[in-house]
Amino acid sequence: MKLRAVLYVAILALLAGCGGGEKKTTEGETPKGEGAGKKIVVGMSQCNLGEPWRQRMNAEMAEAAKKYPNLEIVYKDAANSSTTQQNQMHEFMQMGVDAIIISPKETEPLTKPVAEAFKKGIPVIVLDRAVNGDQFTMFIGGDNVKIGKAAGEEMVKLLGGKGKIVELKGLLSSVPAHDRHDGFMQGIKGSQIEIIFDPACDWLENRAQTEMNSALSRFDHIDAVYGHNDPAAHGAYMAAKQKNREKEMKFIGIDANPNEGIQYVKDGILDATFEYPTGAKEGVDWVMKILEKKEMPPKKLVLGTRIYTKENVASGGKEL
Ligand code: FRU
Repeated sequence: MKLRAVLYVAILALLAGCGGGEKKTTEGETPKGEGAGKKIVVGMSQCNLGEPWRQRMNAEMAEAAKKYPNLEIVYKDAANSSTTQQNQMHEFMQMGVDAIIISPKETEPLTKPVAEAFKKGIPVIVLDRAVNGDQFTMFIGGDNVKIGKAAGEEMVKLLGGKGKIVELKGLLSSVPAHDRHDGFMQGIKGSQIEIIFDPACDWLENRAQTEMNSALSRFDHIDAVYGHNDPAAHGAYMAAKQKNREKEMKFIGIDANPNEGIQYVKDGILDATFEYPTGAKEGVDWVMKILEKKEMPPKKLVLGTRIYTKENVASGGKEL
């Protein structure tokens, strides 16, 4: 290669790497089909990409975006820091993006920057974990109370209405943890199920494993574990297995990623898991409808769920 050509390639490579950690999906140059027209840039702030469910959300979003040739999504990963996520909201505002999609880590710290963008006239779609108030365009997410209640009912069924259980809670500064607990309490109401230990595990598998270790040393017998997500239920299973106690108890989780929770049910690790839809596809479709002024969005779009158990996992679970 001639020197000039080498330099040219090097400059191109440099430019491509100048995204400051951003990943872009740039679509074809000749817009056709749905969403054809002026180029649209949407900022997507993901609270972390360390967890499989969130990787799935981003992958589903990229897939859904393929339908819109003029849409470019600028992805940012907040690496589980609310401060970083606040900064990302401001970066998107400064960039002058057409719209923002955010899946916030925590309710309180993200409420203000979301409202700020919304007040500037930037459509903001909030996914999965809610913010306070109504200063955003639209919220899309699963029904955590319904899922928690179904988990409670399944627990009653699995234990024949009686038993001592451990509840491994999600991050208490995020709404799904509260909703999954409240729903579960409704589901076990009237039974003789007693929660003997209920630490917050912040949605993290390693935290759940540590907490379960202390539960195992404190209690000689545990009938079941309710994990607010599949990583928590799996962490608890691993802790119990290390002490040869995994057969003593049932395990229930939430998320049902195909290669995570659903696989755990197939492998006999979890007794049940519940689909927690990411809302990624709905987010992309709605952002386009909003920007192209095709339809007024509902303030809240609640997504459905499915239960996967040993009995129904082979046939694709059951809608609830
Ligand atoms: C991923 C996750 C999921 C959970 C959701 C709740 O970060 O912890 O496992 O279902 O967030 O917001």
